[in-house]
Amino acid sequence: MSEPPLLRVRHLTTEFLLADAGQRARAVEDVSFDVYPGQTVGLVGESGCGKTTVLMSILRLLPANAEIRGQVFFRGIDLLTLTERQMRERRWKDISIVFQGAMNALNPVMRVGEQIREAITLHGLMPPNEAEVRVGELLELVGIPKERGAQYPFQYSGGMRQRAMIAMALACSPGLLFADEPTTALDVMVQAQILELLQGIQRKLGLAIVLVTHDLGVVAEMCDTVVVMYSGKVVEYGPVDVIFNAPQHPYTQNLLQAFPDLARPGTVLACIPGAPPRLTDLPPGCRFAPRCPARMQWCDAEVPILREVQPAHFAACHLVKDV
Ligand SMILES: Nc1ncnc2c1ncn2[C@@H]1O[C@H](COP(=O)(O)OP(=O)(O)OP(=O)(O)O)[C@@H](O)[C@H]1O
Ligand code: SF4
Ligand SMILES: [Mg+2]
Repeated sequence: MSEPPLLRVRHLTTEFLLADAGQRARAVEDVSFDVYPGQTVGLVGESGCGKTTVLMSILRLLPANAEIRGQVFFRGIDLLTLTERQMRERRWKDISIVFQGAMNALNPVMRVGEQIREAITLHGLMPPNEAEVRVGELLELVGIPKERGAQYPFQYSGGMRQRAMIAMALACSPGLLFADEPTTALDVMVQAQILELLQGIQRKLGLAIVLVTHDLGVVAEMCDTVVVMYSGKVVEYGPVDVIFNAPQHPYTQNLLQAFPDLARPGTVLACIPGAPPRLTDLPPGCRFAPRCPARMQWCDAEVPILREVQPAHFAACHLVKDV
């Protein structure tokens, strides 16, 4: 890539201070990845592996019991060094998010168009009369006829509510959009429409996207790069085609095997036996060791570091060798 990255995350570590006896849950540890302009990065891994926490740490939208360390450069400026006020000025304008479960977050007693207008005026982007025009533009951008801005959320289908949330996230014309499971809870046809919409918007606006999903088929279809997380850490990271063709980390290999082959409907899912470790009781060596079919003796003692397996392809496993 000749252009500098839009977002450069380095050694991001997030701990939650728990109520009981000063315990800490390290939900994210030493996460690093880049997002280039116009690119789509997929963030995948089992439930609880820290995907949402990564996004919320970057945006500094976590509750007060969270402690964030590391560096998060957006266009070269480390967001973690900004004051809360400076961060408020940048959030939504530089990076915006469609939250997990967002479509149920619309205010049921407020017209959808008004909610979008409020998002625009709240960020001081334009005076209310201009905002009205912008609401119409945003609705049309996400494929909702602008007259329907006068309706309430209950008059919308699930897919339309999700479109409205995407419109809201685009209100301040961000360069980067986080989409946290944007199609969960929608039926398959509508999921495909929402993903198509995101791709269309991306092309039109030159937007970069970080897409959190459980669906590796979606990653294959939509993403340039994939970041695979396990128990708060990046286990594999690199170009989607390379990783899908030759995954190096046993966890990625398991995930890909667990994914039903779309070309062969009815293929039985191979589940990964066991469960991820508790964050307050992490194994001393590799976190995947208790479930790893390739586990060796020293995997329990030594933490594998993320190594470059091939140019731009990284994996954290004692089995892989540096380039
Ligand atoms: N405010 C909090 N206080 C304590 N622990 C938290 C808090 N928020 C998240 N966690 C823990 O951090 C870990 C990572 O959670 P996170 O929501 O980031 O996972 P996820 O990968 O997004 O999962 P899912 O796929 O289910 O959305 C989990 O173990 C979760 O219980
Ligand atoms: S380091 Fe060892 S236990 Fe961990 S994934 Fe690699 S082979 Fe498996
Ligand atoms: Mg999540």
